[in-house]
Amino acid sequence: MFELLVAKLLSRPAAQSCRLLKNRFYNRDIVSIKDLDRYDFEGLFEATDRISSLPLSKKQKIGEGRVLSMLFYEPSTRTIFSFEAAMLSIGGSSIGFADPHSVSVEKGESLADTVKILEGYSDIIILRHPSDGAARFAAEVASKPVINAGSGTEEHPTQAMLDLYTVMKEKGKIDGLNIAIVGDLKYGRTVYSLLYALARFEPQVFLVSPPQLRIREEALYDLENRMKISQHRSMEEVISAADVLYMTRIQRERFPDPQEYEKVRGIYVVDRSTLDKAKDSLIVMHPLPRAGEIKAEVDSAPQARYFQQAHYGKTLRAALIALILNEDIDFRS
Ligand code: NCD
Repeated sequence: MFELLVAKLLSRPAAQSCRLLKNRFYNRDIVSIKDLDRYDFEGLFEATDRISSLPLSKKQKIGEGRVLSMLFYEPSTRTIFSFEAAMLSIGGSSIGFADPHSVSVEKGESLADTVKILEGYSDIIILRHPSDGAARFAAEVASKPVINAGSGTEEHPTQAMLDLYTVMKEKGKIDGLNIAIVGDLKYGRTVYSLLYALARFEPQVFLVSPPQLRIREEALYDLENRMKISQHRSMEEVISAADVLYMTRIQRERFPDPQEYEKVRGIYVVDRSTLDKAKDSLIVMHPLPRAGEIKAEVDSAPQARYFQQAHYGKTLRAALIALILNEDIDFRS
């Protein structure tokens, strides 16, 4: 996968310089997006492109006989099903739970014990958990690689990977783009992973939120030192300059007080009239699920990319699993 990077360095055609560089994802935990550098992203995107163009018979060999464990302590649609579909697409299979009440967690079994049991049945553990730090803890407990599929309000690294991949595919670059991130910047974990991923590139980021849902101070302080960021209250301030409009859901379930949620519910809505104020080349993204932030009338607009974004997630996760499982993959068809 890294042969193109190496080929660029050596100014040689890719095919001649296969496998000169180590697969940097092999056997690796994916807990925080902060652990990835720009070369990791570029390598992963290259692998994603390559895996999607492999013939089925070859693709199905990559994960043959391998098993994913899915431990989902919180609801999920895209993440859980795209991981499963990704594993199936490379010839592997998956086990696990989407509802902790259906397994011995309900009887009081600890996260550590659950991880230790499931790792004996599988090759990679995918964990979604309501607590910050849960994925790091699981990675310490497990001897098999752990992928964080969402930990509390903290991070959702594979979402950020597919978000960046979407921007790359749809805009051809990340550097120099104006990226507006709108909505719940306090509790939305996809926002934190996305921002730290973007910080490996050189975009201009507009953060749009009501004052009570601004990005957490410590992250802002850290990120401001890494890239160009400005804060705004209204979409109007940034819509005409934006190349990417990344909408997020107000995270109702993470508010300590339901009355506070009511104050900000429905605060940002994208409809056709919003798009009229934007560049024709704008793309609209959303990690989904949406809860009213993007009107259904936008779905048929040329700017809408959120369903495409979710679909890229399957291929990107297939590439990620493939790289974690196999030190050496021949992506040539
Ligand atoms: C996100 C999550 O779980 O953080 N969903 C997803 O995985 N695409 C976003 C959200 O729930 O708002």
